[in-house]
Amino acid sequence: MKHLIGIDIGTTGAKSVLINERGRALASDFQEYPLMLPRPGWAEQNPEDWWRATAASLRNLLALSGIARSSLAGVSFSGQMHGLVCLDDDCRVLRPAILWCDQRTTAECRLIEKTLGGRARVIALASNPALEGFTLPKLVWVREHEPEVFKAVRKVLLPKDYIRWRLTGEFGMDMSDAAGTLMLDVKKKRWSREIMRGLDLDMSLLPPLGESPGIAGAVTSEAARETGLPEGLPVAFGGADNTCAAVGNGVIEEGIVAVSIGTSGTVIAPTSAPVRDKLGRAHTFNHSVPELWYVMGVMQAAGLSLKWLRDTFGGLERAMAAETGIDAYEFLCAGAGAVPPGAEGLIWLPYLNGERTPHLDPHARGVLFGISPRHGRAHVVRAVLEGVVFGLRDSLEIIRSLKIPINEIRLTGGGAKSAIWRQIQADVFGQPVVTINVEEGPAFGAAIIAGVGTGVFASFKQAASRIIKVSREIKPDPRNSAAYEKSYRLFKKLYADLKDDFASI
Ligand code: XUL
Repeated sequence: MKHLIGIDIGTTGAKSVLINERGRALASDFQEYPLMLPRPGWAEQNPEDWWRATAASLRNLLALSGIARSSLAGVSFSGQMHGLVCLDDDCRVLRPAILWCDQRTTAECRLIEKTLGGRARVIALASNPALEGFTLPKLVWVREHEPEVFKAVRKVLLPKDYIRWRLTGEFGMDMSDAAGTLMLDVKKKRWSREIMRGLDLDMSLLPPLGESPGIAGAVTSEAARETGLPEGLPVAFGGADNTCAAVGNGVIEEGIVAVSIGTSGTVIAPTSAPVRDKLGRAHTFNHSVPELWYVMGVMQAAGLSLKWLRDTFGGLERAMAAETGIDAYEFLCAGAGAVPPGAEGLIWLPYLNGERTPHLDPHARGVLFGISPRHGRAHVVRAVLEGVVFGLRDSLEIIRSLKIPINEIRLTGGGAKSAIWRQIQADVFGQPVVTINVEEGPAFGAAIIAGVGTGVFASFKQAASRIIKVSREIKPDPRNSAAYEKSYRLFKKLYADLKDDFASI
């Protein structure tokens, strides 16, 4: 029996998963690392912390699984997207990595648009607008604010590509992650000379490109000593966390759409050709399945809305959870099922961290609208659950307007585990939704990518049909769907009405 390993370089830590050739997860390990917030809106991490966590996680994983190392066929990566890692001539890290959730680059986004000929031109070149989270604005920020550092930069990598370099000694970046740099011509799958020349940036800063399942190198003897992996083990490029999650959920063909409620929320719709939203409200990126692209709507605070409620007002629920061992969310959501759809006029705008899709508005903030003495705790919980799903519906509406087929909606993440949230999703989307038999996340998808890259699986399709099955279907209730239409219209109007006020906070 052959074995495969996937490692996710996430925002909170590194997670490694070991699977067998039937796709069964046999062991996993998670190692946390710190997130540094040196100023409001800034978010950085130390690449050395990623490496230490990866090496420790791999050693634990191998010990936990007890498999013979000779049965390992390959390893691959998933990674938080967009983070900027700068290396000098001697491949030393020049400054802490600037992460996807860092918001410092608004001025650089405007500068990029101005230099390249406007927002529409940027979308034409990169398939996406200049957004604070993307890598290029971060690189331009370093040039503007830390010229000494910038002068020394020889190579620019993303988080997981830095770790893959530590493992193999080879520079490289896969299309799915490169798509989020704003330096890739997403359509033609090559670095954009127009963008790099336009901004007076040297092409040699960028690593060679590959496809996610392509073999990027092999584990070096030094890395073998540190990680416990066998020297010479093939290492596949791997992919962006969102595409790795899509692979792990079998979202690898047009028509199957993934809706995920984690801390943030994503709606991912694979396409067989690049499809762009002219307004740039949803991202157009390359999939880890080489012949696919995808359109993705991103919500900044989906599960985070409910977490905020639990942490801020859920002291009682947390105490009950500590007492009983039952999840605090279960106590929190217990009464919400008895509240009618629409929460009797209470509406939650889930913009705790600003919003990406559809508003591209870093100033937006959370709002609880329409409170009356009739409303109790359960109404508030229900309104929050509904408001998050209205935000996801905004992304689905963009995908529908782009004429991308939505034959099946697959729910994943924490939002798929809650019965009430599943039903709200079916009702608000006005379409049946399904859940699947595996819920392993991006590291699992990375292990499948390693399997496709090393021939353990003949193709992504073969892997998906071997591993992933639909386990449950939830049908919308037409009466609830009708009630939600009214709330959804008001939800949309409230943002439009409050837009200028958000900017003035
Ligand atoms: C996607 C995005 C996040 C990161 C963090 O555009 O910014 O999903 O990949 O995991």
